[in-house]
Amino acid sequence: MIDPDAEIARAVDVLRRGGLVAFPTETVYGLGADAANPAAVRRIFEAKGRPADHPVIVHFADAERAKAYALEWPEAAERLAARFWPGPLTLILKRAPGVSYLVTGGQETVGVRVPGHPLALALLRAFGGGIAAPSANRFGRLSPTRVEDVIAEIGPAVEIILDGGPCPIGVESTIVDHAGVRPAVLRPGKISAGEVSATIGVRVLRAGGGSGADASAGATRAPGTLEVHYAPRTPLELVPPARLESEVARALASGGRVAVLARREQPASLASRDLVWQAAPGEAAAYARVLYATLRALDGLGRDRIIVEAPPAEEPWVAVSDRLRRAAAAASSPARG
Ligand code: TXA
Ligand code: MG
Repeated sequence: MIDPDAEIARAVDVLRRGGLVAFPTETVYGLGADAANPAAVRRIFEAKGRPADHPVIVHFADAERAKAYALEWPEAAERLAARFWPGPLTLILKRAPGVSYLVTGGQETVGVRVPGHPLALALLRAFGGGIAAPSANRFGRLSPTRVEDVIAEIGPAVEIILDGGPCPIGVESTIVDHAGVRPAVLRPGKISAGEVSATIGVRVLRAGGGSGADASAGATRAPGTLEVHYAPRTPLELVPPARLESEVARALASGGRVAVLARREQPASLASRDLVWQAAPGEAAAYARVLYATLRALDGLGRDRIIVEAPPAEEPWVAVSDRLRRAAAAASSPARG
């Protein structure tokens, strides 16, 4: 039996010595280092194979400590923090003078978050300071939502992995940028742009493409949110529900070995040795929870293609649609991360 208090104490010790700790958050697992120790933060980039101009989010036990990393704390940030922290929300703010450019990717802004997962909070409280932590995956790959995925991605690079079981949300935090003229959602997550707008009383801009995006959003550079990201190795394509069965039939007819991710069971008419059909939950939150683990499993089958039934356009599906669109873009891009 593992003693959670002893594990936390060991993880704090690793952080103080400049080592790397993987820990669960309610969104995805993070790869953490002491944000105030540049050598430790550099190790994150090495472990991930990530370019140095990509900023990392700094995690805190409470909003007071997060504020110390920001030059300004606008009213909108105060309202969002009060409503959604601890939780799946990251705020981008102008950085305070002492915050390392290693953490900010050389930018004048910093991303801060108070996560809601009990193990993450216990670690942050025991450590006291900020923990810089991107998702615990190799650069450009799917974020890990289970301990076994963390091990597969960056296992040898970390000294300790805190086991919180599967992450309850499954997609990364909503990122709201406060450094521009108007708040903007740079990355959609469980907290919707509508909830953010309602909380601050201003309609936020939406970056990232897709329906509902504002072309003018994105004054702040958020590399991971703009580029090909969240990608399986197998080419992935999104197909509208009405065309799913005909597309799968066509792929099979041309000799392809196909994996399908759909929100319904496999029709008997499509039975084939060359087809693996994975039925996913029909409800958005449940779908998000299993999305990355399911894509990893389908990717591991080594098929020629993964065909995904496009999710509905409605609000609860925005984050899932965003990640799937990026995974599909990766399949058609020569510059895959
Ligand atoms: O749910 C999450 O946010 C997870 C957990 C571990 O907290 N973290 C996560 O981190 O997804 P990462 O590094 O994989 O993605 C963070 C995103 C990146 O796209 C990065 O570009 C953006 O946040 N970001 C971080 N700091 C930023 C900054 N100062 N300005 C603009 N974008 C920033
Ligand atoms: Mg990431």
